[in-house]
Amino acid sequence: MQAALAALLLSAVLAAATEPYADLGVLVCTMEPGTITALHPSILEHLKLCPMLTGAQRDAVNAVLLKSSTVYGHPSGWDLETLQHLGPLALALNQTTLSLVDKAAREAFARSIAATYSTQGWEQRQQSLTLLTAMAAASHPRPKRSADQEMPEPITTRVLSESILVIDYDSPEQFYLCLSDSVLQTDLEHVLEQPLTTEYLWVLKKRLQEVYPTGMPDAQLRRLGPLSRLYTVQELSQWQVTSADTLCALLNPSDGKWSSAQKQQLIARFLELGGNLTGPLLQQIGGIFLCDLNEEQIEKIPPEAIGSAGELDISSCSQNKKDQFYSKAQQAFASQAGTKVYYFQMRPYLGGAPAEDLKDLAENGVDMDIDTFLALNPNELQVCSCCAVCWCYSHGGGVGTR
Ligand SMILES: *[C@@H]1O[C@H](CO)[C@@H](O)[C@H](O)[C@H]1NC(C)=O
Ligand SMILES: *[C@@H]1O[C@H](CO)[C@@H](O)[C@H](O)[C@H]1NC(C)=O
Repeated sequence: MQAALAALLLSAVLAAATEPYADLGVLVCTMEPGTITALHPSILEHLKLCPMLTGAQRDAVNAVLLKSSTVYGHPSGWDLETLQHLGPLALALNQTTLSLVDKAAREAFARSIAATYSTQGWEQRQQSLTLLTAMAAASHPRPKRSADQEMPEPITTRVLSESILVIDYDSPEQFYLCLSDSVLQTDLEHVLEQPLTTEYLWVLKKRLQEVYPTGMPDAQLRRLGPLSRLYTVQELSQWQVTSADTLCALLNPSDGKWSSAQKQQLIARFLELGGNLTGPLLQQIGGIFLCDLNEEQIEKIPPEAIGSAGELDISSCSQNKKDQFYSKAQQAFASQAGTKVYYFQMRPYLGGAPAEDLKDLAENGVDMDIDTFLALNPNELQVCSCCAVCWCYSHGGGVGTR
């Protein structure tokens, strides 16, 4: 009853709106499934603007589309263009709806999604995978029995360029059996460019363990992308991650989140094997994790790396570690000492500055912002009698009120 009333009201509002209005966003995007199905099918155009639909809302979208009174017509009449016109709503299509769509159109659409997969962000990839999985299910409705199952061809370089693995190899078992050693050795990159569900990634991990029983070489580790996240801390402690480029590639956030234990282990392993932390690596490791390095590891950071890392956030580090970073930064930027640039380069590390250096800055009339001031070591600030005075009075109103 309530849904019907809401639908009535919304119909009136939406009928008055000739274009999908972003202003109606909250109203439309939080709509109950019952309201969606009760409204005029043109509601679909408004739903396209919602950043994310719930499972129940997606069901409702399918119900509306299956009624065939939409501008898209019945799913059995859809072609590639229709699927493209559906835009973000295509991501809501379920197996029932997809199985009605012409196979060729469906596959052409799957191909167009797979083609852009490797350039998509993490969230987008998850949505693409969901859709491709629904498409795979629509293409292979019943689980086949292994006896009458026709085995697809082995995965070769050519196959990789022509097929979508999750669709053409319809079970993780088939995928396992068709992955040759040679394709894993020479074309791992292309295998991993494909949209692969977690199930398929587990298969890949298993096969890689068989191909490289004593561990993958550094150059292969570099290619793992999202697969790398499936390795345990124990496994990571055995990795041959020897180059900074590999560690940097592995830490790329668009391939998914590492747990802090995994990330720490990965970095520790790299250092244990004699790797040096470079500027880009420090940037990639970032904030909290930088502070997780132990003092011995921080001691080994070459000052040039701090110099080329850009601004690092060490605000959550212990005082000892801040002191270490400060002295590294001081060495890195020594040639600029006394210039205005020097202060800006040193600013992120001033939390580790001793009273003496703070005094120099204060006496040189450096214009310090409040955040930097508050991040200074209070013990050192206390010893630097002129610091508070200089920084307060140089701004008339004082640092605290800026
Ligand atoms: C797809 O959505 C329709 C309409 O909500 C529903 O009837 C059907 O059961 C759904 N199919 C699947 C496989 O969830
Ligand atoms: C790391 O840096 C040290 C000192 O700068 C250097 O001797 C060593 O060769 C470097 N190691 C690697 C793997 O680049």
